[in-house]
Amino acid sequence: MFGKFSRRQFARLAGLSALGMATSARSADSDARPVSDRRPAAGFPKDFIWGTATSSYQIEGAVDEDGRGRSIWDTFSHTPGKIADGSNADRANDHYHRYRQDVGLIKQLGVKAYRFSIAWPRVFPEGTGAPNPKGLDFYDRLLDELLNNGIEPYATLYHWDLPQALQDRVGGWQSSDTSKAFADYAGYVAQRLTDRVKNIFTINEAGRFLNFGYGWGIDAPGLKLPVAELNQARHHVVLGHGLAVQAIRAHGRAGTKVGFAENIAACVPAIDTPENVRATEMATRELNAGILSVILEGQYTEGFLEYSGAAAPKFTADELKIIASPNDFVGLNIYAPQFYIAASDKKPGWTVLPFPVSFPHMKSEWLRIGPEVIYWAPRIAANIWNLDTIYISENGTSSEDKPAADGQVYDLDRVMFLRNYLTQLQRATAEGVPVRGYFLWSLMDNFEWIFGFEQRFGLYHVDFDTQARLPKLSASFYRDVVARNAIGA
Ligand code: NOJ
Repeated sequence: MFGKFSRRQFARLAGLSALGMATSARSADSDARPVSDRRPAAGFPKDFIWGTATSSYQIEGAVDEDGRGRSIWDTFSHTPGKIADGSNADRANDHYHRYRQDVGLIKQLGVKAYRFSIAWPRVFPEGTGAPNPKGLDFYDRLLDELLNNGIEPYATLYHWDLPQALQDRVGGWQSSDTSKAFADYAGYVAQRLTDRVKNIFTINEAGRFLNFGYGWGIDAPGLKLPVAELNQARHHVVLGHGLAVQAIRAHGRAGTKVGFAENIAACVPAIDTPENVRATEMATRELNAGILSVILEGQYTEGFLEYSGAAAPKFTADELKIIASPNDFVGLNIYAPQFYIAASDKKPGWTVLPFPVSFPHMKSEWLRIGPEVIYWAPRIAANIWNLDTIYISENGTSSEDKPAADGQVYDLDRVMFLRNYLTQLQRATAEGVPVRGYFLWSLMDNFEWIFGFEQRFGLYHVDFDTQARLPKLSASFYRDVVARNAIGA
C-alpha cells in the first residue's frame, strides 16, 4: 500500500486503546478530539519549523535516467564487498518516480518543511561544463509538488554523490578544482531554483565523508590518504562551501538563506559543572577545528595547526576569507554524544573521558544514546560562535523495524529515542538556545550507505520489493508532537 493514510490509521497506531496503551489525556476514539486541544502550556516556540529529511542517492533510484552522470557512490556501491548487504541504490526507494506519493507521506505527518538533496551528477553529468538540459526537471516537479502541499523545501546541494568524472579527472576533493566546480554548480542551481527554494544547505556532513571516504577508505571514493592530504582535501571542501555561498548570493534571488549541515563533533560536559561546561566549549572549538571553527571563525585554531604540524593544510589569507563568508544559519546533524568532557589542570584545559563498553546504543552500534547531546551541542555552539539560527538538520535512529504479526511496525525503541531527544531539545529552546527547526532523519527507510538497506531510519517502513510504504508507530508519535508543538502530555 502506498500514498494516503487515513487519520484513523494513524490514530490506530497512536491510540492503541485496545491494548490499554492510550494516554490518559486521549479518549478511546482519538478521532473524536483534535490533538491540538491538548496543547500543554510549555512547548516549542510558536514558529518552530518541523520537518523530515532525505538525500538524493539514498532514495531516488533512476540512476540512468534523463542524462544523469555517474557518481562516486554508484561506483563504490557496485564494488564487491563495500556494502554490507551487497546492495546498491540503483532503485532504492524509486522516489524519482514516486515523489508525489512521498510528498503525500510528508503531508500526513503534518510537518511544514522537507530537507532533500539535489544530485550534482543529474545537473552536471561531467561535474563541470554544459548542464544537462533535463537535469533539474525532476527537482522542478518535486518543488512544485511540495509547495502545492504547503511544504517548504530546504535543498542540500551536496550529500556525497560527487560526479565520478570529477573524481577521475582531478581526484575529487583532493583538488581545489572541485571546490570551484561545486561553486559553479551551486550558482546554476541558485539561479534556476531560488524562485521557490528559499533555504539552501551547501554541504552535508563534510566531516563524515572526508574521514570515511578519503581517510579510512570505507565510504566512496574509498581512499586512504595520508593525514596531510586528508587535511588538504578538507580544506578544499570548506573552500568549496565558501565559494558556493558567494555563488548563491551572486546568482540566487535576494533573501535566499544559505548555510551548511555538519555532524558537529558533539561534546557534552561529563558532569554539568561550570568548569566542565567551559572545558566543553574549548573542546568543541578544537575538535571541530577543520570544519565548523574555520568556517565560523575564519581561521584554523592554534591548537589544530600545532597538532597538525607539517601535515597542516596549505592555505592563503584570501581562502580563509572565502571560507568564512557569512552564513544565514548553521545546520547541526546530531545523533550521538561523541565526547564526554571534563575540565583538566593540564594543557589544553580539557580531557575526553573514555566510554565504558556498557554504554547503551541503538541498533546501529555507533548510535550511542545520550539525549542530552541535543541540548548541549547547540547551546555550546551558539555560545562559542555567537549563532542566532541553528537547525537540527538531522536527528533520528535506526531500529530493527520488522512488521509484527498484524503487519504494523511498533518501533518503540525509536519512539523512546525521539521522546528523550525531543525533551532535551525542548529544554534548549525553552532556555533560549536559538534552534529554529528540526528535521527528522528520515522520512522513510532508505539506502543507509555502507550498511545498505539493513539499517532502517524511516518514520515510514519501506518494503523494497514492492515499494510499499507503511507508517510506523514513530510516525504517529512525531505527528502528535508536531500537531501539539510540544513534547510531553
Ligand atoms: C547522516 C547522513 O547525513 C545520512 O545520509 C545518514 O543516512 C544518517 N546520518 C544516518 O546514518
